[in-house]
Formats: sequence, C-alpha cells, structure tokens
Amino acid sequence: MLFTTNDLQESRVRGAARPDQREIALSLKGCSLSFGDVKVLSNVSLDVYKNEFVSILGPSGCGKSTTLRLMLELLAPNAGGEVVFPSGKPSIGIVFQKPVLMPWLSAIQNIELTLSMGPNREMPKEERRDKAESALQLVGLQDFRNHFPHQLSGGMQQRVAIARALAADPTVLLMDEPFGALDEFTRERLNFELLRLWESPDNSLSSVVMVTHSIQESVMMSDRVVMMSPRPAGVEKIVDVPLPRPREVGMEEHPGFYQTVNELRKMVKHQ
Ligand SMILES: Nc1ncnc2c1ncn2[C@@H]1O[C@H](COP(=O)(O)OP(=O)(O)O)[C@@H](O)[C@H]1O
Ligand SMILES: [Mg+2]
Repeated sequence: MLFTTNDLQESRVRGAARPDQREIALSLKGCSLSFGDVKVLSNVSLDVYKNEFVSILGPSGCGKSTTLRLMLELLAPNAGGEVVFPSGKPSIGIVFQKPVLMPWLSAIQNIELTLSMGPNREMPKEERRDKAESALQLVGLQDFRNHFPHQLSGGMQQRVAIARALAADPTVLLMDEPFGALDEFTRERLNFELLRLWESPDNSLSSVVMVTHSIQESVMMSDRVVMMSPRPAGVEKIVDVPLPRPREVGMEEHPGFYQTVNELRKMVKHQ
C-alpha cells in the first residue's frame, strides 16, 4: 500500500514528532487537592501530549484515580494549581476497572444508553444505533450485540466498556486499571487490541492515559511512564520508554524493555 505525505502525517506510527513539535492535549499545572484534612495530591504537574500513550504507576491509595478525575474535571484542584487544555477542551472518554454495564441491557443497548446521556444526546436514534454498532465492531464484538452482560466473559464485558467509551468519539481516553480484574491471557490480548485500536486511523483517539499497577504492562504499552510518590502524591519521575512502535508480542526480550522495567522496579522499592 502506498502512503501519501498526508497519510504519513495522519498515521498513528507514534513518537515520530520531535519533542519541541509536540502539541499538548491536557496539562496539570502544580495541582494540589485535599479531601477535608487529608492531603491527597501535592503539586502534581504533568503534560499529556497529543498522540501519546502515558501510563501512571504508584502505590495503592496515592491518588491515581483522583488524578484522572482532575483530568475529567469531575474534581477541581482545591488546594492550588489548574488543569489546562491548551488546544481546546477535547472530548474525553473513560474506562474503569469494572465494566459497570447495566445487567438488563444488551451490549449494544448499554452503548446506546451512554450515547443518549452524553453530549450526543440530541442524536437521532438511527445514528446512535450506527455509532454503537461501529464501536462494537472496533472491539470485535459485532456478533455479540444482543448478548446481555452475564452472557459475556469478563474480557468481553471490558471490551463493551471500551466500545462504550469509544462510541462518543473521544480524542483523549482515560483508563483506570482497565485490565486489572482480568486473567493474564485475556489481559495481554486486550493490551495489544487496545494498542491496535489506538494506532488505527479509523477512530478519533489521540492520547491515552492509563493507570495500572503492572510495571510490565505500563512499559509494553506506553511512550512514557509516570511514577507517583506515596500520598500526598506528586510526580516522582517520568520515564521514557525506548521501544519502537508498533509494539508487538515478544518485545519483552528487547533490552530497552527490561532496563525500563528494572528502573521502575527500583523506584517502587525506594518508596
Ligand atoms: N471522594 C473522596 N472523599 C474522601 N477521600 C477520598 C475520596 N476519593 C478518594 N479519597 C482518598 O484519596 C486517596 C487517594 O485515592 P485514589 O485516587 O482513589 O487512590 P489510587 O487510585 O491511587 O489508589 C485515598 O486515601 C482515598 O481514600
Ligand atoms: Mg484507583
């Protein structure tokens, strides 16, 4: 297949842009946040670039989910700092650890329900169905559109949740330990499925921010890994992942993989 210059610019072979050419999708600037007397975030600064995949690691309870809620503007940094969208407010989707599907609705109805509540709520019914249908296709579940959640495996339910987030055409996708509840095999398959989706030009997705507790997963998936310190959490370090794209099964053998995993592991020991 031949690519035009325009295709190449648009293609999702990421990480090609020079750092000084990269555009910021969202930026946390010195954000601090407390719940009552409990200081949770302390001076968190992080730029998320367009077309990048960032992972967030950190001890349990340090404030990772809270950081995602700041990005979603569900919470405001109430003890200083600000959340900035330098290129305008993007459309943001979110996927949680548990798929949170309505048990009495089929896969496609679950997606339609969310579309009927979001910024697309004025959309005609047929268009909503089409969007839900293409989102199911993106995650390979078109043949399961009429299945109810209890008829789907955990991995399939999480794919419905991903389809639901993608149906609204987000440019930024936030994921909070999305594969944490799945077995190792399903998890690895979904990791690569997600990467292929993100690389594909068939959807609007540009930046992904994923919270995970797996160092290996963070390195395999991301361009940069953000290590947060214990509560009150700040950004302890941001590590660049020196692996080429597209990421593929077997890249665990790459020296850059285990060097980065080891570097992150040492940081966890010192926390
Ligand atoms: N709505 C809330 N009210 C009070 N405390 C909260 C609330 N949400 C989170 N916390 C507290 O803030 C801290 C960070 O929580 P969270 O961001 O969920 O951590 P993580 O996702 O890193 O495990 C925890 O101590 C948690 O108990
Ligand atoms: Mg959390």
